[in-house]
Formats: sequence, C-alpha cells, structure tokens
Amino acid sequence: MKKKQLKELNQETLSPSSYEFWDDFYDSGEGKGECYEWYVNFNQLKNYLLNLIKDGDKILHVGCGNSFLAEDLVEETENIHIEIINIDVCENAINRMNERNKKITNQRVRNSLIYQVEDATETNFKDNQFNGILDKGTADALLSTLELEQGDNEMVKSLLREMYRLLKYHTGWFVCVSRNVCLEPYFYSDEMTNWDLKRIDLTTNSTKGKGITQVNYIYLAKSLPLSDNENENEN
Ligand SMILES: C[S@@+](CC[C@H](N)C(=O)[O-])C[C@H]1O[C@@H](n2cnc3c(N)ncnc32)[C@H](O)[C@@H]1O
Repeated sequence: MKKKQLKELNQETLSPSSYEFWDDFYDSGEGKGECYEWYVNFNQLKNYLLNLIKDGDKILHVGCGNSFLAEDLVEETENIHIEIINIDVCENAINRMNERNKKITNQRVRNSLIYQVEDATETNFKDNQFNGILDKGTADALLSTLELEQGDNEMVKSLLREMYRLLKYHTGWFVCVSRNVCLEPYFYSDEMTNWDLKRIDLTTNSTKGKGITQVNYIYLAKSLPLSDNENENEN
C-alpha cells in the first residue's frame, strides 16, 4: 500500500500502520533518542538467534527503527561473517542509524551493517536472496490498521508474502517477534506462502511496573516450497 493511500486511510487517527505515526515517533516522540528498543533487547533474544545464524548469512532486518538489535548481533558473532541489511519506512530513523554506523570504530561491525529506507511490504530486493529475516514489532505495527477483522489485514498479508519471496527455500528462516497472537493465523491462511511455523512464548518483566510481566511471541517460520513441483525444480 502506498504512502498516499495510508495517509487517506488514517486521516483522523494516526495508526501505527501509517508512515506518519512513525515519522512522529522518531522525530519528536519516544523514539527521538539514541535508541528505542521495542519489546525485548538482543540479550533476551540471543539464544534463539545464535542457534539459527551461520557463517556467510545475508540477513534482512525489517522495520529496524533505531534498535541496536542488528549491531549487537554482529558484535556477538565475531567468529563468523554475516551481513545485515536494515530497512525502515522512516527516513529520520534510517539517517540517524547511518550516522551512528559511520562512527562505529569496529570496522567488521561497521561494514556488516547497511541501513536503507524501504517499505517491507514492497521491497526492491531480488527473490530468494536472504538466509534469514528479523522482525521485531513491524508486523504488529501493520496489524494495527483500521481493517480490524482478524485474518483480513492486507498489509500483514503483503508483508508475509514479501518475506516469503525474499527468503531462500527450505533453509530460509523468519524470526518475527510480536505481542500479538492474532498474527499466527496469517502464517497458515495464505495460499501464496508456505511456512513451517513454531511459536515460542517468552515472558519478560514489563518496564511499566514491578511484578508486571508481558508475553512476547517469537514466531519462528521456515520457508517451504509452495508445491511438490517447485521442490523438484529446485533440486
Ligand atoms: C514497533 S516499531 C519496532 C522498531 C524496532 N524493530 C524495535 O524493535 O525497536 C515498528 C517499526 O516498523 C517500521 N515500519 C512501519 N511500517 C513499515 C513498513 N511498511 N516497512 C518497513 N518498516 C515499517 C516503523 O517505522 C518502526 O520503526
């Protein structure tokens, strides 16, 4: 969905599915500082991610905002070479991350990270080129459109189709961190995608108050071929 359409859809209430919501958030809202980390940080995800990542992996990080997730991941994987392309619709966040990256003194980390403005539902990348995709909160942002009916959110469908298009068959993994159980049916309901899905529930302490916990759903989806035919063509 194009920027103009989103603007019209959200004329009265800015929803997190709109570009304008994120421009505000990173220009003058809570995201205007050096880093705003949604849901969980790298250390809380580390064990899940390090199990998946291999030497030579090319990884896409969608809706990166000004999260340090990718930087921390590259720092941690010092014995292997990975490349992470971080994308976001918010130009301000991407510009700031590019500025930050230029100042990183560790050349290996700096050279492994790319930040660019792209809409994750409609990217310019070629098919089947990523070993892995990371999302923390972007699918959730798109779920918050005005199309409330469960399973019928076109933006979420577009996101998952795009992730499927970009991932390598069989070996491609998509880690999607969400606070929304409503996301799960989208992995099963679209005949244009075929995922092998696992959900891990990660309970963390809330920053909102002592003793309050929150459940983060880590959707771990492996990309499978659409049909047996495709499987044969691939081999
Ligand atoms: C909930 S925030 C999560 C930010 C970051 N991943 C984190 O965990 O801190 C959602 C992010 O998705 C971005 N976003 C929203 N719609 C997008 C789209 N269509 N394509 C790419 N990024 C998008 C927003 O600008 C924002 O940075």
